[in-house]
Amino acid sequence: MQSRLLLPVLLLGAGGLAAPAAAQGSLNLYCSVQNEWCQAVATNFQRDTGIRVNMTQRGSGETLAAIRAESQNPRGDVWFGGTGDPHLAAAEENLTQAYESANNAGLHPWALTQWRQSERRAIGVYAGAVGFGINTELLARKNIAPPSCWADLLDARFRGEIQIANPNSSGTAYVVIATLVQLMGEEPAFDYLRRLHPNVNSYTRSGTAPIKAVARGETGVSISFVHDAVTEANAGFPVTYATPCEGTGYEIGSMSIIRGARNLTQARRFYDWALTEPAQRLGFEAGGQLQQPSNAAAPLPPNAPDLSRIRLIEYDFAKYGRAAERRRLIQRWDREVGSAPR
Ligand code: F6P
Repeated sequence: MQSRLLLPVLLLGAGGLAAPAAAQGSLNLYCSVQNEWCQAVATNFQRDTGIRVNMTQRGSGETLAAIRAESQNPRGDVWFGGTGDPHLAAAEENLTQAYESANNAGLHPWALTQWRQSERRAIGVYAGAVGFGINTELLARKNIAPPSCWADLLDARFRGEIQIANPNSSGTAYVVIATLVQLMGEEPAFDYLRRLHPNVNSYTRSGTAPIKAVARGETGVSISFVHDAVTEANAGFPVTYATPCEGTGYEIGSMSIIRGARNLTQARRFYDWALTEPAQRLGFEAGGQLQQPSNAAAPLPPNAPDLSRIRLIEYDFAKYGRAAERRRLIQRWDREVGSAPR
C-alpha cells in the first residue's frame, strides 16, 4: 500500500534527482512521545531519506505490551521515545536487539549509561524530571495553596483535585511509583499511594493526559513530567510546575530496535538519524517539547526545566527497569491502590 506522502518523492526520482522512495523501503515506527513530535519525526525522516514511515503512537507501557504480544511475528521495527524503564524491560526480555551507532560519540554520558545497562539495546534520546503541574488560576479561584512537596498532595485541600496516569499503560506513572519507593521505601510509598487515592479524580491512560486536563482547567494539579507543563504554559494556558521539595525521579526517554525487525536497514538508519543534532532539535522546534536532548550539541530549549537545578534522586534504572520488578510494583498498585474504592 502506497501512502500519498510517497508521491512527491517518486516524482523527484523520475526526474533523476533522488532515488525512488520504493527503493528506499519503509519503516514501522512505534512512537511513545507526544503525537506532534511523533508526526514531526516521521515526516522529517521520510523527507530526509525517502524511507516511507508508518507511525503508531502509544504510551510506553502500551508499546511494551504490544511488542511483547507481537514477539513471534514482530510488526514494529523501531521504538522511539517513552520512559526508559520499559525499554530496559524489553531488552531484558529479549524483545529488542543490540546496535551501536556511530553517532553514540555525540551523546551525553547518561544516554550511554542506558545503552550499556541494556547491553546495547536501548539508548537515551532525552531526559526529564517528575513534578507537579499546576493550574494557577483554578487553584487561586478555589483558594487552594499550590503543592511544593510530595507530602502536600495528601492534604484534604486536594480532595478530588489531582490527576495521574495509570502505570499499566503509562511509563510516567511507573516512574512516579518507582520514585516514591526509592524516596520513602516500599511500605511507606504504598501507604502514601493509598492515602493519595481519595485526592485523585482519575488515573488516565496516557502520561500526558493529566497535564492537558490541568491546562483545560478540569483539574487543579497533575503528577507529570515537568517539561510537559512548560509545553502547556507555552501554549498560553495558566500552567506552572513545581518539583517536590523531598526530591524527585526522572526518565531517560529511550529508543530501541525491535528484535526480528523486518526492515532492519531502515531501522538502523532511523536510529542513527534520531541521534543527530538536527533530529533532536525537532522535539522543540516542530513539536513544542521541552525535554533535555541526549545529543550534547542540541541546545536545551528555551524555558525548559534544567535538570541540574532540580533535586533528583539517584534513580536506580537497573533495578526499576527490571521486567519482574516493574510487573510486581504495577500489580501491587493494581491490588492496593487502583482497584480501591474512593
Ligand atoms: O512526550 C511526553 C512524555 O512525557 C515523555 O517525556 C515521556 O517519555 C512520555 O510522554 C511518556 O508517556 P506515557 O506516560 O504515556 O508512557
